[in-house]
Amino acid sequence: MPESLDFTDAAGLPLAGLTALQALRDVVGVAEGDKVFISGGAGGVGTLAIQLAVWMGAKVATTASPSGEELVRSLGAETVINYRQQRFNNLLSDYDGAFDLTGGQDLTDTFDILKRGATTASIAGIPDPPTAREMGAGLVVTTALKAASAKIRREARKKGVNYRFMFMRPSGSDLAVLAGLVDQGRLKTVTDRVFPFAQIPEAFTYLEQGHAKGKVIVQM
Ligand SMILES: NC(=O)c1ccc[n+]([C@@H]2O[C@H](COP(=O)([O-])OP(=O)(O)OC[C@H]3O[C@@H](n4cnc5c(N)ncnc54)[C@H](OP(=O)(O)O)[C@@H]3O)[C@@H](O)[C@H]2O)c1
Repeated sequence: MPESLDFTDAAGLPLAGLTALQALRDVVGVAEGDKVFISGGAGGVGTLAIQLAVWMGAKVATTASPSGEELVRSLGAETVINYRQQRFNNLLSDYDGAFDLTGGQDLTDTFDILKRGATTASIAGIPDPPTAREMGAGLVVTTALKAASAKIRREARKKGVNYRFMFMRPSGSDLAVLAGLVDQGRLKTVTDRVFPFAQIPEAFTYLEQGHAKGKVIVQM
């Protein structure tokens, strides 16, 4: 736990922070000077992903609605596209990597903006066969995921780019990296709303509406 955070704000760090760190560092392979696109930058994962990509030396473009624009800019996004009015794939090109948090058409559209050989990491798409292997899935699940993700993988291949789904994996050493960044003032958690323990159903209802800016926390 970062020394500079209380329990409420620290609760927003582990899942979203590990997801963003592992996707950008291990799957996308972000390097200094890269151009990186992150869809859905104003949410729980996106607010941390923008800051981590900037820390890795990347220039970040993201999608947000007008109510999220100021937040994502304050976290370091240089290019902010209002997803309600414009398609990012009509505006961006030659990106070194993408981190997809919204799935669907947004996921396949990231393939249009990448350089050949670059990678889209998704946490909102369909798990692919390598993910099944990492999960230790059996033959049935692996075969099912291979079939389910075939169309997306084919689209990526046609465009000369890579598609990888990822699940966050627990890691004490990665948590230490995140806590260190928070304590150095280089990473901040964004808490949207805090619900008391008795209101867990309301917290989930709010989260499921899909408009959180940062994390939704339940206080024990
Ligand atoms: N695989 C894994 O390990 C893993 C880990 C964590 C999360 N996830 C998944 O990753 C996804 C993102 O999680 P999250 O916690 O960041 O979600 P979240 O906090 O619920 O995201 C909400 C934010 O997304 C924005 N948004 C909604 N639709 C958008 C669109 N089409 N384009 C751009 N922005 C959009 C909303 O902005 P407005 O309200 O302003 O429209 C809101 O600020 C979820 O599907 C979650 O289940 C997977």
